Amino acid sequence: MRAPDTFQTDRLTLRPVTRADAADVFAYAGQAAPTRFMPFVRHRELAESLAFAVRCEEARVSGAAFPWAIVERATGAFTGVIELRLSPPKADFGYILNEAAWGRGFASEAASAIVAWAIAQPQINRVWATCHPDNAASAAVLKKAGLGYEATLANWEARPQLGEAAGPSCVYALTKPAQQPGFA
Ligand SMILES: CC(C)(COP(=O)(O)OP(=O)(O)OC[C@H]1O[C@@H](n2cnc3c(N)ncnc32)[C@H](O)[C@@H]1OP(=O)(O)O)[C@@H](O)C(=O)NCCC(=O)NCCS
Repeated sequence: MRAPDTFQTDRLTLRPVTRADAADVFAYAGQAAPTRFMPFVRHRELAESLAFAVRCEEARVSGAAFPWAIVERATGAFTGVIELRLSPPKADFGYILNEAAWGRGFASEAASAIVAWAIAQPQINRVWATCHPDNAASAAVLKKAGLGYEATLANWEARPQLGEAAGPSCVYALTKPAQQPGFA
């Protein structure tokens, strides 16, 4: 199962992340504010962002994940990355934006597009994502994309910038009506 290479929304184009995006990735992945709640160690060198971008290319080829650059249509500005992972019957996603792009509804617009696509797929019954309990902006994005709070999971994720080896995460999900057990 594969996701589309591109999406167009009112203000954004989502297109595959490539190694040519390394400097734009470093512009957020090397900064404290965007990486505060993230599970990866903040990048110290451009080479780390290049390695991430190369992994994005490889993940799209293998189908392990579908990472898109979030590009503002009006300016062509690279504002961040959103990634969908398809694992039927479920799919999950994550996102991170450059701080300069925060507060304009871009994350909600990008998330809404991929959530709408994913839940429309017959093979996908659940679209889910997690965020740190203190990440109010991310929780707002998930709700605006149509997901609802389900639970808070203890010991779910490492967050190096918070010094958490196994920190808590809130699970949000959008699900189709529960299926009957067994196969048709
Ligand atoms: C979370 C993040 C992606 C949000 O991006 P964004 O484009 O600024 O989000 P939006 O503009 O779509 O805002 C969505 C909602 O969050 C609200 N919001 C933003 N910051 C907030 C805050 N600190 N507290 C509460 N709500 C907040 C906005 O008001 C908006 O709701 P509204 O439209 O009803 O006013 C961005 O802050 C980010 O990249 N953070 C770092 C990475 C990260 O935490 N990723 C998620 C990991 S789970």
